[in-house]
Amino acid sequence: MLIRLAAPKDVRPSDITPESMYLSRREWLAAAGLTVGAIAGAAALWPRRASAQQAPGKPYGLQPDDRPTPWEDVTSYNNFYEFGTDKSDPAQEARDFKPLPWTVQVEGLVKKPGAYALEDFLKPSKLEDRIYRHRCVEAWSMVVPWRGIMLADVLKRAEPTAGAKYVAFTTLYDPARMPGQRYPVLRWPYTEGLRLDEAMHPLTLLVTGVYGRDLPNQNGAPLRLVVPWKYGFKGIKSIVRIRLTDAQPATAWNVSAPNEYGFYSNVNPTVDHPRWSQAKERRIGEFLRRPTLMFNGYADQVASMYSGMDLRRNY
Ligand code: MTE
Repeated sequence: MLIRLAAPKDVRPSDITPESMYLSRREWLAAAGLTVGAIAGAAALWPRRASAQQAPGKPYGLQPDDRPTPWEDVTSYNNFYEFGTDKSDPAQEARDFKPLPWTVQVEGLVKKPGAYALEDFLKPSKLEDRIYRHRCVEAWSMVVPWRGIMLADVLKRAEPTAGAKYVAFTTLYDPARMPGQRYPVLRWPYTEGLRLDEAMHPLTLLVTGVYGRDLPNQNGAPLRLVVPWKYGFKGIKSIVRIRLTDAQPATAWNVSAPNEYGFYSNVNPTVDHPRWSQAKERRIGEFLRRPTLMFNGYADQVASMYSGMDLRRNY
């Protein structure tokens, strides 16, 4: 498969999705599993600039008043410390980053380790468009139409051995191409991890695109993780290595501030960050803050993975 990347600055909102792929307002709400009454109520809340926000893909775990965050916000308000620590830095500083060609290493406790060119790595998985809630630990949120493949597909192909319990992910380390890595703001390269059952969960996506287009550099080109029931920092960008392990892997934020960022990082409105509340969030583009949902609204799908665990200790 050929991965094409358009320069984000060249994209007009009307380019993002072919008109034929837009969901109508009613289709959107129906796809979100809403009743006729809810459709009527929610329709009244639909913003005027709906057409710019309609997006390809199946809505997962959305609420009646969740609307995709416009492309402009998804691609200009970013966290990607390899390209600076301000929200506006990645769109500017990653402009000249050339993500292709790209190699992904799959290794560790697997029967079939290997180094894959990105296009081979993605084959033969099916790219899917899925619209997810995206909740940052900083108490802001978005709704993002991602495009990706299930991480489970990739892991199954590699055939984890019986001893594999966790999956560790690593971002590219290349200070010449990622200028933020010249400063010790985090321990580089950025790393993340999941328990194997979390990694195999059908909601967990390896993402290659957004709004039906290949990922812009600032969103983690050419390949990033998205785990919608966890805080956004678990969504490691520009992944070059996926390693199956028997021990819980170190993660970049846990290493830099262990009392603030744990391994699990499940969205949980009842467990505050030591410096701020997690009970509410500011949806980018909205004025009033909205309540944060347990597991970011995905409790029905994922809560059973944590039954019996103390989520206050395992934050
Ligand atoms: N991945 C890398 N390699 N470096 C980063 O700084 N930031 C994380 C995560 N992935 C980060 C990263 C944080 S804090 C968040 S909230 C999300 O990316 C933001 O994803 P977005 O910019 O696409 O919204």
